[in-house]
Amino acid sequence: MEKSEPLVEVKDLRIHFDVRDGVVKAVDGFNVEINRGQTVGVIGESGCGKSMTAKAIMNMVPRNGKMTGEIIFHRKMAEDGQSTMVEEVRIDQLDPDGDEIRKIRGGHIAMIFQEPMSSLTPVYTAGFHILEAVHLHRFIPGETIGDTMTRNIQKKRDVTDAEAKEIAVDMLRRVGIPRPEQRVDSYPHQLSGGQRQRVMIAVALSTHPDLLIADEPTTALDVSIEAQILDLMRELQETVHMAILFITHNLGVVAEMADEIVVMYMGKEVEKAKTVDLFQDPKHPYTRALLASIPHVGEKSEEELATIKGMVPSPFNLPSACVFHPRCPEFMPGKCDRIPPKFGQIGEDRWVRCLLYDASWPDTAEAQAIKAAGD
Ligand SMILES: Nc1ncnc2c1ncn2[C@@H]1O[C@H](COP(=O)(O)OP(=O)(O)OP(=O)(O)O)[C@@H](O)[C@H]1O
Ligand SMILES: [Mg+2]
Repeated sequence: MEKSEPLVEVKDLRIHFDVRDGVVKAVDGFNVEINRGQTVGVIGESGCGKSMTAKAIMNMVPRNGKMTGEIIFHRKMAEDGQSTMVEEVRIDQLDPDGDEIRKIRGGHIAMIFQEPMSSLTPVYTAGFHILEAVHLHRFIPGETIGDTMTRNIQKKRDVTDAEAKEIAVDMLRRVGIPRPEQRVDSYPHQLSGGQRQRVMIAVALSTHPDLLIADEPTTALDVSIEAQILDLMRELQETVHMAILFITHNLGVVAEMADEIVVMYMGKEVEKAKTVDLFQDPKHPYTRALLASIPHVGEKSEEELATIKGMVPSPFNLPSACVFHPRCPEFMPGKCDRIPPKFGQIGEDRWVRCLLYDASWPDTAEAQAIKAAGD
């Protein structure tokens, strides 16, 4: 299958919260496209709007948030090996409590939440969570029905209880839960934090979603379990052509998993590139600073890792024009604090939001005066 078949498009997404001290622009004009079978990584410092973007794709923005923009899901209706019927669903326009989004959530688009407890119900066992997801959403081919002139459509059939239990035990085993035959009957409070996270991963993967949103999916896990889970995700990518939106602070993991990476800063995308290009030649000064903070093999341990200058700004007092300018080592006074940079294409599959790469803006008179004074 072609990798360029669109699955989810997020266009000019804005999520603003009116709070006592002003407006928090959690997401402020963010765009991303995810194709079928593709892994897109999203990286950026804490608070830049990664989880909020993920929740918007699930239509789970908190009620006090005001959301604008478009979230388009290309839902596959049926396929017969030759042709595919796809319909566009505007997720942002669905009732967050309605039937339509419930069919999509969990089944077509599943999410591993950053906080495992938020998606596990304390009164249900680990196994029940998986059984419910499988019963509701898993496509099990049944009899062939429909339009015999052009295509045959396979009807979904109900999964039997015995089959669902088998799937649940198998999924728990595959996410590295020891003694899954017993653990399947455990309640969330009887599991450790890492086990709860693995149960949530098992629930999300058990329905074979079109898109898996993985928000810091492996933070509570030790490295061998992490490797096992990442392998499982890749395996599902191969077998059911699942796409992944991978959100993480772990640049090593994202480098290994993602085909393409979007770098986010204060609710906007600031750079987008193929993973190899981004790591080999980061363009935005923010991306360079993020990458400089990863330890490299061979570095002396007493050498301090680079940190990004300054702090993420207060959402109530955002810097003018380029919001990164007060922290930027390449800051051009009179320019970066005056002209909001556009997200522009600078090469094949390479985009960046930075005036260093935008020749359409000559120096302002103020910038020239500042430069002249410095000479
Ligand atoms: N219900 C809410 N009301 C007001 N502001 C909120 C609400 N939920 C989130 N925010 C704010 O939205 C911004 C983005 O939050 P988000 O959780 O998306 O960040 P993140 O990039 O996922 O960070 P992290 O890496 O720490 O997970 C933050 O400034 C946060 O304080
Ligand atoms: Mg988050």
